[in-house]
Amino acid sequence: MYNEKVLDHFNNPRNVGEPEEQNAVGVVQSESCGDTTYVYLDVEDGIIKDIKFRTFGCAAAIASSSMLTEMAKGKTLEEARKISTESIVNELGGLPEQKIHCSVLAGDALKAAIDDYIANHKE
Ligand code: FES
Repeated sequence: MYNEKVLDHFNNPRNVGEPEEQNAVGVVQSESCGDTTYVYLDVEDGIIKDIKFRTFGCAAAIASSSMLTEMAKGKTLEEARKISTESIVNELGGLPEQKIHCSVLAGDALKAAIDDYIANHKE
């Protein structure tokens, strides 16, 4: 069902947990299955210095979250906001059609975390 890359990110997820320093969090729960993803950010000078996640969900959701953290680390908030579900799925080498919706959680949680950061750091 899943390709090698997806299985690798599911079995050895990158950036799990919470950063030592963090200044934003985003939480998204799937309406269809109830699975939940948390994305934590450590933002410095507009750059995502560190990003970690916790996903209580299926293999596709965990692999997507893991890939997202690798794609977002080191990017500016503007660049990170542009990471699409499609690009996450592409980086994973594809997901089964019926699991595409699971990959949406990761990107949405990142966007929620970026919004949280912006809301709490208005000058
Ligand atoms: Fe819920 Fe995949 S089945 S995120």
